[in-house]
Amino acid sequence: MTAATLTAHPSGALKGQVRAPGDKSISHRALILGAMAEGKTEIEGLLEGDDVLRTADACAALGAHVSRHGGGRWTVEGKGHFTQPIAILDCGNSGTGVRLLMGAAAGYPIAVEFTGDSSLQKRPMGRVLDPLSMMGARAEGEVPGKLPLTLHGGSLRHIAYRLPVASAQVKSALLLAGLNAEGGVEVIEPEATRDHTERMLTAFGAHLEIAPEGRDSSGKMGRRIRLAGGQNLHGTHVIVPGDPSSAAFLVVAGLIVPGSEVRVDGVLLNPGRAGLYDTLIEMGANLQILNRREESGEPVGDLVARHGPMKGVEVPAERAPSMIDEYPILAVAAAFAEGRTVMRGIGEMRVKESDRIALMAAGLEACGVDVAEEPEGMIVTGYGRAPLGKAMVETHGDHRIAMAHLVLGLGAEAPVTVDEPGMIATSFPTFQALMAELGAGITEAKAS
Ligand code: S3P
Repeated sequence: MTAATLTAHPSGALKGQVRAPGDKSISHRALILGAMAEGKTEIEGLLEGDDVLRTADACAALGAHVSRHGGGRWTVEGKGHFTQPIAILDCGNSGTGVRLLMGAAAGYPIAVEFTGDSSLQKRPMGRVLDPLSMMGARAEGEVPGKLPLTLHGGSLRHIAYRLPVASAQVKSALLLAGLNAEGGVEVIEPEATRDHTERMLTAFGAHLEIAPEGRDSSGKMGRRIRLAGGQNLHGTHVIVPGDPSSAAFLVVAGLIVPGSEVRVDGVLLNPGRAGLYDTLIEMGANLQILNRREESGEPVGDLVARHGPMKGVEVPAERAPSMIDEYPILAVAAAFAEGRTVMRGIGEMRVKESDRIALMAAGLEACGVDVAEEPEGMIVTGYGRAPLGKAMVETHGDHRIAMAHLVLGLGAEAPVTVDEPGMIATSFPTFQALMAELGAGITEAKAS
């Protein structure tokens, strides 16, 4: 029976050394590129969360031979192209899964039906479908720009496209489509976003040209990426590093629970993902990064978080793309810090798995935290002590809203309960087990 709610209780010191689960962004990409490639791709450390498992099923439906060998080891044998699926592809809760798969599928002469859960059906798909239709793909659905829809691909032509929103998903979808477009594709991103697709395309044998694209008046620095069409991918070996977005919950728990020392090993520290850690260090957090190294073309390190005082900071708006999924847990750290933490330029948070600005503001307020909501921002004022907690938080099925409030509950004066905790398994299926290993008191109430 699945839990109806989870409750985090004020905890004694958290202690221990754990490994972060595999990175979600890299896991999706390893499967999709493996399925597009010719030959065998071996993957180690794949995140076996619901989002990624949906992508694995979709890759199999698109013609690849996908096998799970246990312990995060998978193989994907691609045919070098996708074939017509017979069933609808249900990407569940995953924006990354559906948007990257739409981009990849658009390059082949097939018609693919895509759908997702109620959250994904509300999220904007026009940001990917508009440029894909400029390339020659065609989307058909009842509500324009929304799932469910059928994507008709094949015979794509070149476009040069400037991203109107800083989105690695849109960039990645276009690069994957460009592989099979006449003349390839050129993507200009005014703000640099995570570059896992570019790194992994190179590892699968594709050639890209990447140049910096002028700094704008607000200090944002972008990139121009050119990819020639008609490039074949070749199967390779991928080792998936630990997910910095999931590690963030363990690290912040270590920073806010008195007496704690939490070590998380093997965390991806790609500059496009590490904005939270830069921010925590600016807040004066007792956070050390050990053993910096490179694994499978990505920078990785081990994180040690010890409880200690933190102060509020202003987070530079241009840092948003490198920590867009981490603002919920940063807001929790800010609630324990002394002073104002100002988070602006984060309007994209409103179109994630939920409206994360609205839900964080509501949840924090219910926990007795001083929080102000802005159209594209949030300001949290902390008083250098534990907030009250003592709340029941509605997560609207958003995994990161659930985990952020549970972490808050571990350091609060009174317990915090969240609903729909089953959704945590979309990105971090081992969250409860790892927290228990560190000594956190998280209990479940069963559905009747
Ligand atoms: C992701 C990109 C980000 C992020 C998401 C994963 C990716 O989304 O929020 O969790 O793997 O490319 P956007 O591209 O919409 O910013």
